[in-house]
Amino acid sequence: MRALAEYLPQIEAAIQGAPGTDHPLAGAMAYALEGGKRLRPGLLLLAADACGADWQALVPAAAAIECIHVYSLVHDDLPAMDDDDLRRGRPTVHRAYGEATAILVGDGLLTLAFDLLAGIDGVAPRAVLGAIREIASGAGIGDGMVGGQVLDLDGAQDAPGSIRVARAKTGALLGAAAAAGGQLASAAPAAVNALRSYGRALGVAFQIRDDLLDVVGTEAEIGKRLRKDADKERPNIVRFLGVEGARAAYDEHAQHARDALMRAAGDGVKTERLLALMEELADRMH
Ligand code: IPE
Ligand code: IPE
Ligand code: MG
Ligand code: MG
Ligand code: MG
Repeated sequence: MRALAEYLPQIEAAIQGAPGTDHPLAGAMAYALEGGKRLRPGLLLLAADACGADWQALVPAAAAIECIHVYSLVHDDLPAMDDDDLRRGRPTVHRAYGEATAILVGDGLLTLAFDLLAGIDGVAPRAVLGAIREIASGAGIGDGMVGGQVLDLDGAQDAPGSIRVARAKTGALLGAAAAAGGQLASAAPAAVNALRSYGRALGVAFQIRDDLLDVVGTEAEIGKRLRKDADKERPNIVRFLGVEGARAAYDEHAQHARDALMRAAGDGVKTERLLALMEELADRMH
């Protein structure tokens, strides 16, 4: 994504170095981390940059949120969950390394994330603690990503239910990425709140797009097995709204994201690139 291009080389370097090399899980962790659009770490750095921070010091926080995202994908793909065999165009971690290793890769990545966050240097400790809390709650139970995965397993009964699943399993972590960027920049609480709302709305739109791509995309473009949501009766939004209805829901949440950016701009955030990211996602084909 062009809006994130400036940050990607440093994100990649931090992610590739993160698991280290001197333990038996390192190879499988590195395999899990390879590929991916880096939306969440990019969003964290973009939000911090937009609040005037020196984003280079915050790259470990960006790597941390990608570790959490990747752990969620590794566990999401397990036979007990979505039972997928293709991710980022390659065999899923449990297909390549076995189920027990995949479970431990997820555990290792989640733990590593908090090690990376605790190691951030040159930023006010209060700001780091705020970001840690933000990320923990976006990734956690209740309204966070794990809570969303629980709702996903329960299934959804109707369109609002399927949006609630999207809000928790995907919106919460994207909201946390944007808000943590603001926190690490020591931005004013109103700006952090607006960034969180932007990230959450962007995340819901992003999950609607993912659900649409499961129905209308091609495996070669997307690098995942498609049309599995219907087979497995997952709470795919298109099941409740149809393709046109899902596109309308996408537009509605994209507009919520733009509205939140207007509020952030009022609080002094430079929102041009955050807006560009939102518009670019509409064209996402993988
Ligand atoms: C996939 O996320 C899971 C969803 C929340 C839809 P991404 O589409 O960001 O996956 P990668 O990181 O680019 O592989
Ligand atoms: C995954 O949603 C959301 C996560 C928190 C991992 P999906 O199950 O739709 O993601 P994909 O399609 O497998 O990437
Ligand atoms: Mg899933
Ligand atoms: Mg899945
Ligand atoms: Mg999906």
